[in-house]
Amino acid sequence: MSDPSLIRAVKGMNDVLPDAMPRWHRVEAAFRETARRYGYGEVRTPLVEPTPLFVRSIGEATDIVSKEMYTFVDKGDDMLTLRPEGTASAVRAYLEHAVHGQEPVSKWYYLGPMFRRERPARGRYRQFWQAGLECFGDSGPQIDAEMIEMVVSLLASLGVQDLEVLVNSLGSRDTRARYREALRSYLSPHEARLSEESKQRLVTNPLRILDSKSPVDQEICASAPSILDMLDDADRAHFDELTATLGALGTKFRVEPKLVRGLDYYSRTLFEIQGKGGELGAQNALCGGGRYDGLVKELGGPDVPSIGFAMGLERILLALPNEASARSLDAMVVVAEPSLNVKAAVMLKQLRSAGLTAEGDLRGQSMKSQLRRAEKLGARTVVILGGAEEARGVVQLKDMRVRHQQDVAHDAVVAAIRARLALEGASHDGAAR
Ligand code: HAM
Repeated sequence: MSDPSLIRAVKGMNDVLPDAMPRWHRVEAAFRETARRYGYGEVRTPLVEPTPLFVRSIGEATDIVSKEMYTFVDKGDDMLTLRPEGTASAVRAYLEHAVHGQEPVSKWYYLGPMFRRERPARGRYRQFWQAGLECFGDSGPQIDAEMIEMVVSLLASLGVQDLEVLVNSLGSRDTRARYREALRSYLSPHEARLSEESKQRLVTNPLRILDSKSPVDQEICASAPSILDMLDDADRAHFDELTATLGALGTKFRVEPKLVRGLDYYSRTLFEIQGKGGELGAQNALCGGGRYDGLVKELGGPDVPSIGFAMGLERILLALPNEASARSLDAMVVVAEPSLNVKAAVMLKQLRSAGLTAEGDLRGQSMKSQLRRAEKLGARTVVILGGAEEARGVVQLKDMRVRHQQDVAHDAVVAAIRARLALEGASHDGAAR
């Protein structure tokens, strides 16, 4: 039994320990690099915002606002919320700094934790990480297609297999209102058979019934009217050009008229990328996004058409192929006896100042145990300081891959390690060819 007095992390909120980090860093670096290539600059907004920001943008009837927000009153009696997503904060910052007056189009990206009090499951957490993009000032549809193509390319470059891209259009606000009523009229005669949650949604948010997981709800929805049949001419033209551009870019997609997504600010283009591979279970939405042409105005700004998306980093990691993720260590410094510890500390400084990753184990362990540790840490080379070698002004440099060992003068150690690493790189390239 574990000790009940131990304080544990909050349910649904996870630690990420250093061994897991290389995979996180790989995904984050790929995202940042892709965003940079497509012209996006990073924005960092606070983790806490005034509650009305989320209520007004995401929508009162949504699950996020009605059930999942971490909201509290602070000591100054302000009602604050831990951000459940990044779009509302980005729009707030965009307006607060009057960015619309400075440039016609702004392309922003962000990366950070979000908070939703959902039921924890594999791929669904109460604190989770999102990487997202927001583009303000371009009404599309080419930018819509570019964004979808960008995420698909990013995921492919990371090796995420078995993707499905779903696209839909919600039309304008008026279209959505008309569709809501059409859906309500269609569903009302079936009300008695609907799940309890959908019965409630029939009143508050009927569109969300379309993505109910209940088999009976799904069967009822199978013959529901399609929003695509209700689009006006301008919305239809936008959607047709989006799908034509995606075709020209070679991005495979499926039109899914039942895709609605759980945030109220969307209009027109909507998309979601679902994964099937890796360890992903039921939480297979890797990323979701869409247009929110009315939101900037709704929050008190000018009419600025906008589109964005966000992907869940934990879900991307679950979808990634499993690969060894050993931390890389260029050199491990090993001492024959503790009297050489000061010399080892100086050697470690020398290696690290030269840009090498280096570790030492100066706890007075035996040579055998230090070498075992070098093996465990995946050290490519080992620098051994011994009494006799010190007297001659040399160290022994061991190449852990080919088990080659040589004497090297103190001031030549960095160059000798670099040469060993370069040899290894060359033989890797050779193997890859
Ligand atoms: P969202 O669909 O709510 O959209 O979230 C985007 C992605 O975040 C999801 O596809 C999923 O990968 C991940 N995610 C959401 N909730 C959780 C959770 N509880 N645990 C783990 N991962 C989760 C938005 O947040 C919009 N702000 C996206 C957007 C940006 N639309 C326009 N601009």
